[in-house]
Amino acid sequence: ISNYSSGKMGFALASAAADRGAKVVLITTVSHPEHRGIEVQHVESAQEMLGALKSRLKGMDLLIMAAAVADYRPARRANGKIRREETPTLNLQLEAVPDLLMEIAADKSAANVYRVGFAAEDSDLDKQVDEKIKRKGLDAIVGNDISRHDIGFGSDYNEGVLIFADGSRTDLKKMTKREMADRILDLVLPKLKVKVH
Ligand code: CTP
Repeated sequence: ISNYSSGKMGFALASAAADRGAKVVLITTVSHPEHRGIEVQHVESAQEMLGALKSRLKGMDLLIMAAAVADYRPARRANGKIRREETPTLNLQLEAVPDLLMEIAADKSAANVYRVGFAAEDSDLDKQVDEKIKRKGLDAIVGNDISRHDIGFGSDYNEGVLIFADGSRTDLKKMTKREMADRILDLVLPKLKVKVH
């Protein structure tokens, strides 16, 4: 239902962009330190994140989606206490969470937003990443290997590969998440119509 993502990669990207003078909105479920140039919009669920994305994307130049959105959520919510005496067994039914990037791709107000996703994979990284870039209508994607414990989830370090829709790719060797954020921006910003330093 959930995972142990720390939100550190998202914050690293937001602060790296803000330090270059971008106006940044960070939509997050996590509390982060205050950072000049970042406006934080706090959300609790995937549904709230989708609403926040839809209301903030218009006029934006770049969306980088590093959020580890849960894939499933409980299908029903109890209105009050679930009593053990009345409910001797309980089946928790889960339903799929809508794909936020795919919904955004279908949204006209985001048509001119350059979209970069992330892909968390534990096997066949290149193949899966290639497929995800197409399925989610992305301009680029950062693939990372979540089977390793020294990088990714919760760590200050990350390693992966940045692949653009035209197939060009750059390996991102193990580095801090902040270093990776700067590297991603170095590679992505030249593709935008607006100029950022
Ligand atoms: N993502 C999203 N909405 C979801 C799940 C994921 O927008 N409901 C985004 C993530 O923020 C990331 C990208 O989609 O940028 C890929 O996420 P990932 O977890 O790797 O893939 P899934 O779509 O969950 O696919 P699968 O579980 O089949 O690998």
